Amino acid sequence: TTVEWEAESYDMGGHDTYMHKEIHEQADAVDRALRGRIDDRFSTVHLGGLNLDARDARAVRRVKILGCGTSYHAGQIGAQMIEELARIPADAEPASEFRYRNPVVDPDTLYIAVSQSGETYDVLAAVQELKRKGARVLGLVNVVGSAIARETDGGIYVHAGPEVCVVSTKCFTNMVVSFGLLALHLGRTRDLSVADGKRIIEGLRKLPGQIEEILANEAQIEELAKEYADAKSMMFIGRVRGYPVAREASLKLKEVSYIHAEAYPASELKHGPLALIEPAMPTVAIVPDDELLEKNRAALEEIKARSGRILAVAHQEQEKADHTIVVPKNEDELDSILMGIPLQLFAYYTAKAMGRDIDKPRNLAKSVTVE
Ligand code: AGP
Repeated sequence: TTVEWEAESYDMGGHDTYMHKEIHEQADAVDRALRGRIDDRFSTVHLGGLNLDARDARAVRRVKILGCGTSYHAGQIGAQMIEELARIPADAEPASEFRYRNPVVDPDTLYIAVSQSGETYDVLAAVQELKRKGARVLGLVNVVGSAIARETDGGIYVHAGPEVCVVSTKCFTNMVVSFGLLALHLGRTRDLSVADGKRIIEGLRKLPGQIEEILANEAQIEELAKEYADAKSMMFIGRVRGYPVAREASLKLKEVSYIHAEAYPASELKHGPLALIEPAMPTVAIVPDDELLEKNRAALEEIKARSGRILAVAHQEQEKADHTIVVPKNEDELDSILMGIPLQLFAYYTAKAMGRDIDKPRNLAKSVTVE
């Protein structure tokens, strides 16, 4: 009911759905997440509500990120960023799995609960269980003053602004940007050099402009969505940084279009899913221009050899792909923030071509406050 009230009270600004509006708000939203937080003098960031001084930050031996759905996927990217920039072992897990398996709670681990609404029951219950066991838990939350924001020891507001569409878009992007900030902060209390800190800050500052560039390519994405909308099922692949991007893009497509989609690490194709590849099963491949480019190209070749159709999201045209959506290159560690954005539009236009109820997909609620 809250969501319905909100939906009526926000101006649509000429967009046909909240999903479309929120996708287009992302450059501004990212700008908001960065505002007032960057410290150029020390090539780091200030995160006011973190409640983690330099000594606490240095004492962290491990990071465990908990969330559900899209927020869990944002956490997977966040874990990679923390490992890469701060060299602290980090991983993400669905909050519901975590809380039902009687986890070993370690005092040297920093726990981070990720949530748009700040009210998701499984995440809240995981936070409460962790607190009960004496753990330090931070929140990475959008809704200010929400239950998870209140129950955690400190955290980062992602500042995406109100998100009405059940399908999360701008909040995901701002979560990942916020993880970038946290990773930079943790990195700079450890071994990340001033020069690398500066490089990441420059990358972060480029994001809003690059998001605008991606969105300016909307007409191409709309055409591609129409072309692939006849698929019964789609495969999404990526490798390391590209894998959580593939997972999130496949969730977006299934939520809003109801087309079945599976996400796999590209390296796992040959261990089974390659059997599914045929012309009626298109593949969306995340192909960043990083040290894994040649490996990713080899996967495209394997798919082509089985007559699979390929849509690549890449930093340059991919010869083996039937179509490529070219996205602007940022720093390797930050590319995941951008590569999923065209696939939000892809999911939106696929759902539109199929006449789906885009803002309120069947069977789903904006926040799941029950078990
Ligand atoms: C996102 O598109 C989903 N509708 C869903 O997976 C969502 O991310 C999940 O329910 C978690 O919600 P939260 O971020 O409000 O905790």
